[in-house]
Amino acid sequence: MRRRVDETAASKRTEGKPVKRESATVQTKTRSSWWMWVKRGLIALCTLYVATPFILQFFPSVIQYLVYKHAVTYFVDLRRPCDLGLNHTVNMYLTSEAGVTLGVWHTVPEQKWKEAQGKSLQWYEQSLEDGSPVFIYLHGNTGNRAAPHRLGVANVLSALGYHAVVMDYRGFGDSTGEPTEAGLTTDTLYLYHWVRARCKDSLVIIWGHSLGTGVATNTAVKLQEKGNPADAVILEGAFTVAEMPKGYPHPFTWYYWRFPYIQYYFSQDSIKANKFVLPNVQNLKKMTTPLMILHSKDDHMAPFRMAEELYNTAKSVLKSEDKVRLVAFDGSHGYLHNGLYRDPALPNYIREFVQSVAK
Ligand SMILES: *[C@@H]1O[C@H](CO)[C@@H](O)[C@H](O)[C@H]1NC(C)=O
Repeated sequence: MRRRVDETAASKRTEGKPVKRESATVQTKTRSSWWMWVKRGLIALCTLYVATPFILQFFPSVIQYLVYKHAVTYFVDLRRPCDLGLNHTVNMYLTSEAGVTLGVWHTVPEQKWKEAQGKSLQWYEQSLEDGSPVFIYLHGNTGNRAAPHRLGVANVLSALGYHAVVMDYRGFGDSTGEPTEAGLTTDTLYLYHWVRARCKDSLVIIWGHSLGTGVATNTAVKLQEKGNPADAVILEGAFTVAEMPKGYPHPFTWYYWRFPYIQYYFSQDSIKANKFVLPNVQNLKKMTTPLMILHSKDDHMAPFRMAEELYNTAKSVLKSEDKVRLVAFDGSHGYLHNGLYRDPALPNYIREFVQSVAK
């Protein structure tokens, strides 16, 4: 209120004065309003910082939004994968359970791109039975299926002559519902069975990246327990929970570690309240599904030793060099956590793995 009075007074004072003076006043006003916004911003930030522990204590589900960063959107129309160069991809929606609709992209093998032009959903669905391996790609914890590194993997798989089926879990992208660990696994099991019912005897391989590795191993264990294991699993940028530095509850709170007192914010209790575990190591102890682990040595989010731990766990269970492999990518490439799709040798690793599984 006072500010407004001042402003009116100021504008009154400038009345009838030469133009030069007026512009000087405008400039001061701009600077002072700029400063006011900075101050307001700082106050808001401090308030947020002080209030966060209380918010998290009383509304642990807020963690959902920090761990599953599904609210982050890319400004693309998910109904139009062709806008992103995927001209042989169809967008579809599947219902994994009541109230949960999942946005899914199905990219057919690249050699079919011409034939695919203008084709219906039904054509795409039928193409799944063409005998080519089908990859179900489970993405990480941020954003949606249109992220560039996800398109990158779909393109690599398609160029190899495989189908790539990329889903946004519940709550992500244009999928409905709220993300929870159990929910993500339910969605994946649904998609797996949907694909399996259409592709007959083709290989179905589950590829998880980052958070998706936890969903992949959860799913693989469930399928195995039901007596119909997946043909293979690929884990890219996988993490383990056991080896976290003391006080850091989960790798997916990594983004927030740099803030002081963050351990306090992400108490084990609040993570547990969200039933957020994604226990890769425990899952691998049960899994007999052929496995390939892809990991860059400069991965800043899931350190390389996590991949080694997973590899050693799987090897002790599978007892066969053939069924489990670890492909390490040199840190000098700068692939970090998301960039493996750029490696020129990646297609070869995938092809060889698929051939070993098909035998
Ligand atoms: C469609 O996609 C394929 C495979 O990525 C590419 O080779 C082709 O040039 C694209 N065609 C058009 C018209 O964009």
